[in-house]
Amino acid sequence: MLDFFKSRKLIGLDIGSHTVKVVQLQKKGERQRLESLASMQIASEIQEEADPALRNEMLAEAIKSVLKENKITCKNVVSSIAGDSVIVRYVKLPLMSEEELKNVISLEAEQYIPLAIDQVVLDFFILGEVEEEGIQKIEVLLVAAKEEIIDMHVQLLRLVGLNPIAIEVDTFALQNSYKLNYGLNEGETICLINIGAKLTTINVLEDGVTHLTRDVAVAGNNFTREIQREFDITFADAEALKKTDGKVLIESEDIMQMSIPKEDDNAARIGEAITPVLNKLVAEIQRSFDYYESSIRKKSISRIVLSGGSGKLRSLDKYLADKFDMAVEINDPFREIIIPDKEFDHEFIFEQAQKFNIGVGLALRQME
Ligand SMILES: Nc1ncnc2c1ncn2[C@@H]1O[C@H](COP(=O)(O)OP(=O)(O)OP(=O)(O)O)[C@@H](O)[C@H]1O
Ligand SMILES: [Mg+2]
Repeated sequence: MLDFFKSRKLIGLDIGSHTVKVVQLQKKGERQRLESLASMQIASEIQEEADPALRNEMLAEAIKSVLKENKITCKNVVSSIAGDSVIVRYVKLPLMSEEELKNVISLEAEQYIPLAIDQVVLDFFILGEVEEEGIQKIEVLLVAAKEEIIDMHVQLLRLVGLNPIAIEVDTFALQNSYKLNYGLNEGETICLINIGAKLTTINVLEDGVTHLTRDVAVAGNNFTREIQREFDITFADAEALKKTDGKVLIESEDIMQMSIPKEDDNAARIGEAITPVLNKLVAEIQRSFDYYESSIRKKSISRIVLSGGSGKLRSLDKYLADKFDMAVEINDPFREIIIPDKEFDHEFIFEQAQKFNIGVGLALRQME
């Protein structure tokens, strides 16, 4: 029995395509305390390895060393998947109990999930009841994940020598982290946007609960590629330049001064080069808003909360605020977490916080 309680310690491991993030939390009374925090950029030869089994082996070795360097000995882990391998759909079904739905879920899911039903793992959440044309229905969030991808992920974690407790979906980790740090915001609909390297996760939360979520393949790498093209440099150099000089042009402020980029003004050149990517991203966000506001609820979204490594791109928050005419806040995943002074450098954490949002959400599983 005691061992069981001991083993409730766990790490949240967010394995992105660009960076691996590790977060260990421990519950102290009512609050969470940070125990360990680490991140590692994935070497380009690992990122580019096409053979998934070999890539897993290389990645496992790299994760092992980051855990060792940071003296993280905890073996229990919650990790996540995202992107094409996961589909989340809001559906309305005839009124039935949770038990009944369990029995018919794969039948019901078939028409909504464009994946072979026998090759996916299904899950669902009943959000509530609605009346539609005089008929009482249940609102359900249907989650389907490709079994093969989950298996691959579990295999990777085992190669690292870890003990997987659960495989979560990025978007629900975002929801959990937001709930801990900011509460449910009942009566309000907000949109969490996490911009990584390959993927942008969009999650519309109504009363703190996901009602619409999508991953779109427009993110940090697209910015980098545009910078690479504009400056005719390597991808790695473009990454570095993006971080030092990258900035989004704000129409109301910058265009006047910057419409004719000077050769030496990197920020202006970058700003112009990445504009097509930003337009695509805005269009994808707008599509999600339109879908939510027309098909799910007649409510409007009041605010955007931004996170992910690419959320650090300078002025991106202002740009989105301008485009959507709403407040854009930078998510602080450590807002309600105790960070012991002796062990952690607050300034470093403040600097890096945004990219740890999913990791924090994963580490929160220990509370359940
Ligand atoms: N200061 C910065 N300015 C702009 N972009 C940045 C900055 N710091 C990091 N990034 C970008 O953030 C991305 C990495 O963020 P993150 O760790 O959230 O991605 P990931 O989880 O590895 O990717 P994904 O989930 O999309 O597979 C990279 O594209 C990187 O270039
Ligand atoms: Mg990510």
